[in-house]
Amino acid sequence: MAKALDGVRVLDFTHVQSGPTCTQLLAWFGADVIKVERPGEGDVTRAQLRDIPNADSLYFTMLNSNKRSITLDTKNPEGKRVLEELVKVCDVMVENFAPGALDRMGFTWERIQEINPRIILASVKGFGPGPFEDCKVYENVAQCTGGSASTTGFRDGLPMVTGAQIGDSGTGLHLALGIVTALYQRTLTGRGQKVMCAMQDSVLNLCRVKLRDQQRLERGPLREYSQFGEGVPFGETVPRAGNDSGGGQPGRILKCKGWEHDPNAYIYFITQGPVWEKICDVIGEPTWKTNPDYATPAGRLPHLNEIFTRIEAWTMAHTKFEAMEMLNKYDIPCGPILSMKEIAEDRSLYATGTLVEVDHPVRGTYLTVGNPVKLSDNDVKVERSPLLGEHTEEVLASVLGLNEAQIEAVRSSGAVGLAPRQAAE
Ligand code: COA
Repeated sequence: MAKALDGVRVLDFTHVQSGPTCTQLLAWFGADVIKVERPGEGDVTRAQLRDIPNADSLYFTMLNSNKRSITLDTKNPEGKRVLEELVKVCDVMVENFAPGALDRMGFTWERIQEINPRIILASVKGFGPGPFEDCKVYENVAQCTGGSASTTGFRDGLPMVTGAQIGDSGTGLHLALGIVTALYQRTLTGRGQKVMCAMQDSVLNLCRVKLRDQQRLERGPLREYSQFGEGVPFGETVPRAGNDSGGGQPGRILKCKGWEHDPNAYIYFITQGPVWEKICDVIGEPTWKTNPDYATPAGRLPHLNEIFTRIEAWTMAHTKFEAMEMLNKYDIPCGPILSMKEIAEDRSLYATGTLVEVDHPVRGTYLTVGNPVKLSDNDVKVERSPLLGEHTEEVLASVLGLNEAQIEAVRSSGAVGLAPRQAAE
């Protein structure tokens, strides 16, 4: 049974979402991920948005699969010593504390390198060096400062954040790539290195097509934006473009049969140039194939509202799935708007491991998103998240080699705590 990151040990000093998504991915690639949490409380998300009393929340369980949890008060001198011992035997340390928190704990990059020159220290911060570098940052702050919010939404409405957690999970993904790259380089150099991902940078990286448009705007209007066809002048910056597609091919979200009562009875429809004639045939407008107002992409731009109104008359006569099936026959790019309920009920996603049901001793079975990256030689089953401190003694014994008396000494120093459930027993 191969595991891609077999033998890699990760000291997971992360909390909330951005860091945990990264280390969860590493665990799904087979790394041994040891999550360090504060005794008694642990990762704040364990108790956030709780849906079952006294059970770890879905917020926590869905971001911390396949990890081991140890509790450690790293401000306690003994806890600090244990952390140092862990740094010695880990390949990677991942953290996403507020700027300066790790330094205040006594673990500067210089100190970490002294303890273990091979370790890779990976950090998420809100911003890179600059005016905002000391700020604490959450998801929507990153979406707003990385260019996503100003370019999302409708022209006449407020800037909008998106439901995809591009600031947190998006940065976690970037960080995971940085870590495996650093691990690869270490096989050549023998040295560790520091990997840093700023949430603002990660969001901007995902928004690069909008920075593309900012530069194009300096040379003239963005002709593929609906705004151009509507004769609305452009300002100095990339406007919000509703559901226009970012690739230059006009696209919109159109109503389908049932839209009056189903908020997701819609389909995304792209009037891609190469399939225009097929579109005309499907919607019953064959003369549009030769009429100069409609026949060419440039000719169509001023008529997009009329064109999409006509296409919508067709989509409204079909359910989104019927429309998808009919359009796919002609390679007309489209996609039904799937609700979370529809996604959760899609058995094909379970068959591929993209959705996984996991058993948990306190909360019962829960649904989670499995590893979205499929490797042919990585056999790791998605497992439940750990209870707080579930593996404290196991890690002290098996990873640090402490004997029973030494474990007792750590315990009596107050540096570790038992899981609340165990403590209550
Ligand atoms: N033992 C002892 N102390 C611990 C500890 C442990 N096991 N784990 C954490 N702490 C301490 C930290 O040392 C810090 O102490 P200090 O402020 O005295 O130095 C304290 O807990 C709080 O950490 P902090 O990171 O400031 O938490 P917060 O809840 O105030 O802020 C964030 C949360 C997410 C805003 C902040 O961590 C942050 O900006 N992170 C970077 C960006 C990021 O990842 N944001 C997205 C999160 S999804």
